[in-house]
Amino acid sequence: MAKSTVSLPVFCLLLLSFDSGILLKLAKGQGKTWCVAKPSTDDAALASNINSACNDLGSLGWNCSQIQPNGACFEPDTLINHASFAMNSYYQAFGRQEHNCYFLSSGLVTISDPSYGNCQYV
Ligand SMILES: *[C@@H]1O[C@H](CO)[C@@H](O)[C@H](O)[C@H]1NC(C)=O
Repeated sequence: MAKSTVSLPVFCLLLLSFDSGILLKLAKGQGKTWCVAKPSTDDAALASNINSACNDLGSLGWNCSQIQPNGACFEPDTLINHASFAMNSYYQAFGRQEHNCYFLSSGLVTISDPSYGNCQYV
């Protein structure tokens, strides 16, 4: 009896440190995160995000050719799809910080890769 009460705090401490390690890993998503447009974003904001993200990407030598006609991410030809791709490229190119996916609160950081078919999100 005395033996188990003595070892209980040690056991809990071990459990705690084990758990926080797992949580930290989950929180960091094993490294990679992506940025997408919130589904509730209106068209004007989506269009504005595409323009500003693609424009700023140009200064780093990136471009948005994938969401132009014949680009791998052009289809589906919707603003939300194009905005998500552009916003993610911006997020990745500018350092993958929380504020790189802000877009006046229309950006959403996700731990699942939004890539589909031939459309590869960087
Ligand atoms: C866009 O970037 C890609 C990859 O860096 C490059 O191959 C392509 O030529 C660029 N397109 C334009 C229009 O600049």
